[in-house]
Amino acid sequence: MKTFKIAVIAGDGVGPEVISEGIKILDKAASLDGGFKFEFTEFPWGCEYYLKTGRMMAEDGIEQLKKFDAIYLGAVGYPGVPDHISLWELLLIIRKSFDQYINLRPVTLLKGAPCPLKNVKREDINMTFIRENSEGEYAGSGAWLFKDKPNEVVIQNGVFSRKGCERVIRYAYELAQREGKTLTSISKGNALNYSMVFWDQIFKEVGADFPSVKTFSYLVDAASMFMVKDPGRFQIVVTSNLFGDILTDLGAAIAGGMGLAAGANLNPEREFPSMFEPIHGSAPDIAGKGIANPMASIWSASQMLDFLGYPQWGKKIVDAIEDVLVEAKNLTPDLGGSSSTAQAADAVMEKFATRI
Ligand code: NAD
Ligand code: IPM
Ligand code: MN
Repeated sequence: MKTFKIAVIAGDGVGPEVISEGIKILDKAASLDGGFKFEFTEFPWGCEYYLKTGRMMAEDGIEQLKKFDAIYLGAVGYPGVPDHISLWELLLIIRKSFDQYINLRPVTLLKGAPCPLKNVKREDINMTFIRENSEGEYAGSGAWLFKDKPNEVVIQNGVFSRKGCERVIRYAYELAQREGKTLTSISKGNALNYSMVFWDQIFKEVGADFPSVKTFSYLVDAASMFMVKDPGRFQIVVTSNLFGDILTDLGAAIAGGMGLAAGANLNPEREFPSMFEPIHGSAPDIAGKGIANPMASIWSASQMLDFLGYPQWGKKIVDAIEDVLVEAKNLTPDLGGSSSTAQAADAVMEKFATRI
């Protein structure tokens, strides 16, 4: 029987509350399948670990993670530790060290999920965001000169390499071609006269290899307006690291909220482990209350199954989430219900088991 070794970094705030529910459903999928199983190893890394040890992860943390088939992560960051330290020393360093250059984030309005938009058809909110996840505005390149002096200057460079742009854009074209969908590139070439002009040029160049894919290019400001006014325009979307970060929170808002937004950080070559995580943070405002919505992390678990070669189980999990939304009896407060994290997750589990 195939055994998948999964590193679990539950992390901070609501992270542990939602990740434990995702683990249960992964185990259930494995037992129902009978052909594979999971072996989970938990790492106590995060802000509490930092306050005790001065580090967000073990010194050889990246080395330790390398031998796993995938990483399942909850959330990182909590008041008390500066965000740029906690995120750079754990989440972002993993994405970069393991060359997880694809951040795949579905923006799909499931039946029963709340939508704040009027006059929009439910089936029109069905996009897949491919966010560049290794460089761009998140390259971490810059300087802080004359710190605390009157002539203080900070520089934060955007780094757009040909390799980095080509590979994420090619991945998006391949996905659009495979799924018979349109591909929209979102950039900002009118103002960012080096990076985004280059991005647009590469989008055209790579497109020459995919003549059957219908494409659109939008400026990011207009794209954010269209996501609200006319989301049906978007199917597969490819964009830079920062734009993708911002637009997928907007995507979450129109597709049921942060409690339903899932994401996968992929190293498509499988040279390194990929990482699966809800896109929400540690939600300090509700942490410890047992009311965080577990659906985003359960959906991320379904993405793990997709990536490990079991998309049939991944799909059943998303269908089970939809069943629970439609039934509307076991919803957490963010979705207008009064259920706990455990009640909502149990309901997904029950629907999942009855779908077999
Ligand atoms: P957040 O996503 O933690 O919270 C934003 C809002 O969404 C809050 O009102 C929160 O209660 C709600 N929310 C989020 N997840 C929810 C869930 N599962 N169920 C119900 N409601 C949910 O974003 P923030 O407040 O900007 O950030 C908090 C901390 O998390 C910061 O330290 C930030 O840097 C970090 N962060 C981490 C990640 C990550 O680990 N991937 C992502 C975003 C933010
Ligand atoms: C996300 C998060 C991270 C990002 C932060 C916490 C660094 O917001 O995964 O969307 O910006 O990528
Ligand atoms: Mn984000």
